[in-house]
Amino acid sequence: MCGIVGYIGGQTAVDILVDGLTQLEYRGYDSAGIAVLGPSGAKRVRSVGRVRDLEAALPKRLAGKTGIGHTRWATHGAPSEPNAHPHTDVTERIFVVHNGIIDNARDLRLELEADGVELTSDTDTEAVAHLIARTGADNLEDAVRQTLARLSGTYALAVIDTEHPDRIVVARNGSPLILGVGDKEMFVASDISAVVRHTSQVVHLDDGECATVTASGFRMFNADDNRAVAKSATTVDISPDDLELGNHSHFMLKEIAEQPFSLERMLSGRLDERFATARLDGLNLDAQAMRRFKRVKILGCGSAYYMGQLGASLIEELARIPADAEPASEFRYRNPIVEPDTLYVAVSQSGETADTAFAVQEVKRKGGTIVGLVNVVGSTIAREVSGGIYLHAGPEVSVASTKANTHMAVGFALLALALGRVRDLSITDGTRIVKGLKALPAQIGEIIDAPGDVEQAAKLLAEAPSLFFIGRVRGYPTAREGAQKFKEISYRHAEAYQASELKHGPLALINPEMPTVAIVPDDELLDRNIGALHEIAARGGDIVAITNPGVDLPESKVTLTVPKNEPELDPILLMIPTQLLAYYAALSLGLNIDRPRNLAKSVTVE
Ligand code: AGP
Repeated sequence: MCGIVGYIGGQTAVDILVDGLTQLEYRGYDSAGIAVLGPSGAKRVRSVGRVRDLEAALPKRLAGKTGIGHTRWATHGAPSEPNAHPHTDVTERIFVVHNGIIDNARDLRLELEADGVELTSDTDTEAVAHLIARTGADNLEDAVRQTLARLSGTYALAVIDTEHPDRIVVARNGSPLILGVGDKEMFVASDISAVVRHTSQVVHLDDGECATVTASGFRMFNADDNRAVAKSATTVDISPDDLELGNHSHFMLKEIAEQPFSLERMLSGRLDERFATARLDGLNLDAQAMRRFKRVKILGCGSAYYMGQLGASLIEELARIPADAEPASEFRYRNPIVEPDTLYVAVSQSGETADTAFAVQEVKRKGGTIVGLVNVVGSTIAREVSGGIYLHAGPEVSVASTKANTHMAVGFALLALALGRVRDLSITDGTRIVKGLKALPAQIGEIIDAPGDVEQAAKLLAEAPSLFFIGRVRGYPTAREGAQKFKEISYRHAEAYQASELKHGPLALINPEMPTVAIVPDDELLDRNIGALHEIAARGGDIVAITNPGVDLPESKVTLTVPKNEPELDPILLMIPTQLLAYYAALSLGLNIDRPRNLAKSVTVE
């Protein structure tokens, strides 16, 4: 939520800021702005809308080699130019960009107003700019530190000062922030995507840390006591091409298409055929430790939570350990009981989701063991957990997550296999799952290359104002994720239900205007699922069925088939057509597929 970028060095700052903001736009896209320190002082330009609207509003020439920029996802105040960042003080000396929420902003704003400061926006951030300017400190670092001591809430901040144009001072508490180290130039950003074109050397700030960033390097220090913090840069292995659309019309379609190759990469070296298990050294759990757990609790948000449900089902089936998933956003607020013999698993694409990161801290604070299934290397959650499985899906730009979800599901299958093989999962069953996992990338490739009547089905669904996604037992998390994807980008009401629960109420809604997407694996519950389809068809409801070859479903208007794998892994393959259905429905409705309204890729606020 909100993207921050900063530059200091020998190049024209505005070009780098605009390019960085374009890369960060997936974090928020209701308004954008920059402030640059040039030979004739500071220049700020802000605009409502996308980064391209900001670009159009920029003057032809904007000199200056130090600057900060921001793309916004509104929290305090509607999207408008006065609410867009950077914010400044009354003398226009200090400029601030911020990601996060200042909880005591109301009190601070009242205090400033009582002191005669005329506030020009509805934001929490503006108060920060005024406070920094009013500290009377000799240098920007002290002014920032003194101000931080007055803030409660979360922030990643980047601050520039017309009186100290040779530096950007940054601070982090609860919202992500990195530094990019270049050759006689430095970058500041919410994440690596904004700097990867310029450098692969990054430094992650931790909560409570600040840094002074100059063209020649950085100095890091604690916000509390100004003590120096020693940190060096690490190398990231993302190529700028990973963030380009290439021949694809949308990032979502590109990311769906990448799955066979990204999964191949993820699985490489992780399958142990000899012992029919998974090699997961990064978990930092040996066989004894793995046997200790009597329960598994998975924590994630949104699609990551649904993948957690799929994971819990895999763990129960393969390892026979009671497992469940809970939205991290709920867990953190309900004073959860953290048990010593439970393995907690945080799952997140970005590794920066605030609710999940707080849930991780809650588990740690209560002495629990928590590992992570995380995509972004070096992200907050990845660094907080005691071990984990990196998803290696590569950068995911589309707000609607696809490949990262599939990687989460496969990550859980690996975890379930490893937990199962130190318990009662036989070598025969282990071998069956290893073979199934090995087959997945090619099978996903087959679905993508020959998706059947998916576009026709998507059009049928897009015309309906409301629809059901149904699945039973293993198929239910797939249905939930299918409904989530569909509503995120088509803005249609899509509700997931257990197929078994239809007759207990929701069947009343079925009519010719209310279609159903049914997840129908060819497994031991096939007859029961066919029964549910009869009930829907008898009430005039259209059905789009996603099933395996050879399953005859005369009730279904459109049937999409996916190759058969092992029953435990079939839900992963059955999910791929739901990604395509959502994509083609949004396409037929002419909607903004990669940047759906009201959403942001990385939810770093509570
Ligand atoms: C996925 O399509 C959604 N945009 C959203 O539900 C997402 O999965 C959720 O916000 C969690 O994000 P994370 O995986 O980065 O933690």
